[in-house]
Amino acid sequence: MSIEKHVQLKSLNTLSLNSVASDYIKIESIEALILALTYADEQHLNVLILSGGSNMLLPEKVNALIIHMNIQGIEQLDEDDQSITLKIGAGQVWHDFVLWTTTQNLYGLQNLALIPGLVGASPVQNIGAYGVEVGDFIDSVDVYDRIEKRFKSILAADCHFSYRHSIFKQDPNRFVIIYVNFKLLKNADLKLGYGDLKNAVGDEKTALNLQNQVIKIRQSKLPDPKEFPNVGSFFKNPVISKLDFEALQDKFPHVPHYLQSNDQVKIAAGWLIEQAGWKGKQLGHVGMFHKQALVLVNYADANLTEVQKTYYAVQHDVFQKFAILLEPEPVLLNEQGLITLHHLIME
Ligand code: EPU
Repeated sequence: MSIEKHVQLKSLNTLSLNSVASDYIKIESIEALILALTYADEQHLNVLILSGGSNMLLPEKVNALIIHMNIQGIEQLDEDDQSITLKIGAGQVWHDFVLWTTTQNLYGLQNLALIPGLVGASPVQNIGAYGVEVGDFIDSVDVYDRIEKRFKSILAADCHFSYRHSIFKQDPNRFVIIYVNFKLLKNADLKLGYGDLKNAVGDEKTALNLQNQVIKIRQSKLPDPKEFPNVGSFFKNPVISKLDFEALQDKFPHVPHYLQSNDQVKIAAGWLIEQAGWKGKQLGHVGMFHKQALVLVNYADANLTEVQKTYYAVQHDVFQKFAILLEPEPVLLNEQGLITLHHLIME
């Protein structure tokens, strides 16, 4: 087992934050994972599981063992008339996996094309786009449970998937995701309900065309992390009560919104941020992207403190104007490598 010391994580997180880890190891097998967890126990180090680094905010120093999950593999587990179940290694690149499913004529994940990151992170915040959430196509998740100290498979129903949430996000230090088992459809079931996706797809209603249109829409407004370091949507779309929504709509009749099944209303955070004057605006080297105000960009080597200054200012201004508190989507790590709560900035 080769633990590396003092490792720079800048190229391993898509916001490109400078962050030096005291201990780091890249894991290719279950045996190596067990050895690494034992090492962390012996050294009294916290463990931080690193996947694609596309949804995390890292401090400048992390005194913990970073376990960089790189377990590969695509295996077919099951097949019936309707579906195929596949076991996918946590270290597979998400977008490549989506493209591969389309070449295999498997339906379901096309709306989730071009999302950055790896397969193992997809259940954690139940990644979603264009009317589909990954939880809709997960059969089960194979994990190592660090509390029960054993491997187990968690059925999708027990993962408690909801909007950008799951038990893995709820209890971040407990489970190490090793494989994700997907149940994909053999017959066409294209989800075209979101925004202008239906128009973009037009008459060519194939999985490949749907996937290509999703890629085109994303490329037209979401910055490429290699050019403009970012973590995708920086805030969740807030969900408020119908009563609060009616009051908001009285004052702002054009607010984009989506009715939820539980009588609540989801509001487009990008619109709130744009109305608060932050679209294309920067504070120092950090700002909200000029084509999609929900995406925070690190324009020039900013550190976490600078990033925080900017998003606190955005939260503040949105709260002043709309009395709505925006909740950051990425997880925030402290110097001990533990996930901590974001400060909620109101005034
Ligand atoms: N809007 C603005 N100004 C902006 C951005 C958006 O007015 O600067 C308005 C748009 O005009 C539209 C509405 O807000 O009416 C929604 O915008 P969009 O379709 O771009 O989607 P979003 O709600 O901003 C969410 C997800 C994205 C996902 C898209 C498409 C969240 C937090 N974000 O964004 O997910 O790709 O829908 O489904 O739910 C991510 O999580 O990292 C992510 C990129």
